[in-house]
Amino acid sequence: MSEISMEQIASQLVAKGKGILAADESTGTITKRFDSIGVQSTEETRRDYRELLFTADGISNYISGVILYDETIRQTASNGITLAQILTDQGIIPGIKVDKGAKALAFSEGELVTEGLDGLRERLAEYRSLGARFAKWRAVIRIGDAAPSQYCIDTNAHALARYAALCQEADIVPIVEPEVLMDGDHTIDECYAVTETTLKTVFDELYKQRVVLEQMLLKPNMVVSGMDCPEQAGPDEVAAKTIYCFEQTVPLAVPGIAFLSGGQSEAQATLNLNTMNDGHSHPWELTYSFGRALQASALRAWGGKADNKKAAQDAFIRRARLTSEARDGNYSALDENS
Ligand code: 13P
Repeated sequence: MSEISMEQIASQLVAKGKGILAADESTGTITKRFDSIGVQSTEETRRDYRELLFTADGISNYISGVILYDETIRQTASNGITLAQILTDQGIIPGIKVDKGAKALAFSEGELVTEGLDGLRERLAEYRSLGARFAKWRAVIRIGDAAPSQYCIDTNAHALARYAALCQEADIVPIVEPEVLMDGDHTIDECYAVTETTLKTVFDELYKQRVVLEQMLLKPNMVVSGMDCPEQAGPDEVAAKTIYCFEQTVPLAVPGIAFLSGGQSEAQATLNLNTMNDGHSHPWELTYSFGRALQASALRAWGGKADNKKAAQDAFIRRARLTSEARDGNYSALDENS
């Protein structure tokens, strides 16, 4: 056992003014992101890009922890120090994505189940020795005509709880991520209903499998309108319905909730987070664990060119500062122009 407990790690991750950077894109996903800016995805370009983010001046003011991918936690920066150590040296907690991705769910066309439990105990022990103090597993729930099925929700919830229990056994804080996707034309109320059922099922499984709630974090979607829904709910409705949904489903013992951005724009995700933390009372720390909503501007500013490193770092830090303001309810959409 380490000197810092899982409870302490969990509360440090959701400390005031701070949140998590999700930089754990799989090779396939980061390649898609690089394609969008015309950059070839190689081990070296992926390393350069992540090194740029992790060494941005002031990152530790806004980022409490970074979720890494298997390749990244093993990589060394240009100064010969591992990327994980570069984070640790700045007081940022390294985390690791441990799931092996969402695969087709048998007997349920179009639905997915996340894999990666085989050998997980051994992998967790290795990641712990490489410096990881928390982990992430993402389950994917899609809203469609007859979806999601309770079968899909149950199967994913069971796997999430098995993962979380193994993490705690290994002295690693599990981030439990059941993501209800924004894809589709469903209404915010449909998103609410599916998110509520999903969270109820997930916490039921966590209880059955003896997961200690004080030693975990939840990483959910916000309750939002589907991307193609003609009537898009505004921030007040998103904030009210998201918090109400948690009140119905998330036990008080869970120390923090760190949202994914899920395809919202940077400004939209920031405004929604701010609205939840400005004037809505709730018993949890509500913060961010954004991937795209923390990286989109930086990725564009970088464009794969070493000369743009400083501009990309500035764009990343600006975004992180605005998101940190939103985490404390101090952001104004006008700040987007500053
Ligand atoms: P997004 O914020 O881009 O949704 O990524 C967060 C994440 O880690 C998804 O698993």
